[in-house]
Amino acid sequence: MSFQEGELVYLEDAGGKRSWMKLSFGMMKVQSLGAVDGSKFRDLEEGEKVTIVGRDYRIFRPGVLELMESLDRGAQIISAKDAATILMHCDIKAGDKVIEVGAGSGGLTTALLHAVAPTGQVLTLEFREENAVRAGKNVSRVGLHKYWSYQIGDARDMDVDVDWKADALTMDMPDPWLALGNLEGHLRSGGRLCAYVPNMNQAESIVNALREHGYVDVHALENMQRGLEVHPGGVRPSFEMLGHTGYLIFARKTA
Ligand SMILES: C[S@@+](CC[C@H](N)C(=O)[O-])C[C@H]1O[C@@H](n2cnc3c(N)ncnc32)[C@H](O)[C@@H]1O
Repeated sequence: MSFQEGELVYLEDAGGKRSWMKLSFGMMKVQSLGAVDGSKFRDLEEGEKVTIVGRDYRIFRPGVLELMESLDRGAQIISAKDAATILMHCDIKAGDKVIEVGAGSGGLTTALLHAVAPTGQVLTLEFREENAVRAGKNVSRVGLHKYWSYQIGDARDMDVDVDWKADALTMDMPDPWLALGNLEGHLRSGGRLCAYVPNMNQAESIVNALREHGYVDVHALENMQRGLEVHPGGVRPSFEMLGHTGYLIFARKTA
């Protein structure tokens, strides 16, 4: 499919460095490349080579992975491996309604919005206005703002102003067990919950709270992902590994 003006795309050089742009077929400024004649992108296919001031690039549309990797970051974002697990374990799909606690930089929000679009919606609860604003800029940049809304408040005691029940509730906050009582009325029966916490004592507290509140299928896990260095004549695990990100706790609400 040929590219359209206004699309968000990126150019990738041979070393994997990406330059992002909102496509225009006139002269435009491209991050780290300067002024570029956009007419050269008009008839390109995705993945095709394009030469700019003597250097070769490939042009691509972003997937959710590249969108998350390119966000303007304030708070630490949830990694792709953990976001993918949340989508799978919470069965989040097009048309779903999701309540999320903790906008942060909008990392998980981006993954949730990408999954529920174009017929679902995500409501994010956040007590720091500046984080909600940053997340909002990030989701607008990638065109997902149509499916997103937020409310400023403390998830532990705020009035959540929605007239629907969520299919899933995700909580990336330090003390999710303290927000459970306030939020669970907004999760439908059979709906799925995920809490994401960095420490084991937090994981224990939320698991205990979920059991006390009558949730079932309560399980906690950690994802470890290690890259492979593949070279001619030698393949070995990468020396660099993100050792620990967080613990993921999942559960289903009963009727
Ligand atoms: C680690 S960040 C979330 C990162 C986000 N999931 C991402 O991928 O970009 C945690 C966020 O939760 C917010 N937060 C923490 N406790 C909260 C509470 N009780 N109510 C509302 N927001 C809260 C913080 O202000 C912060 O923005």
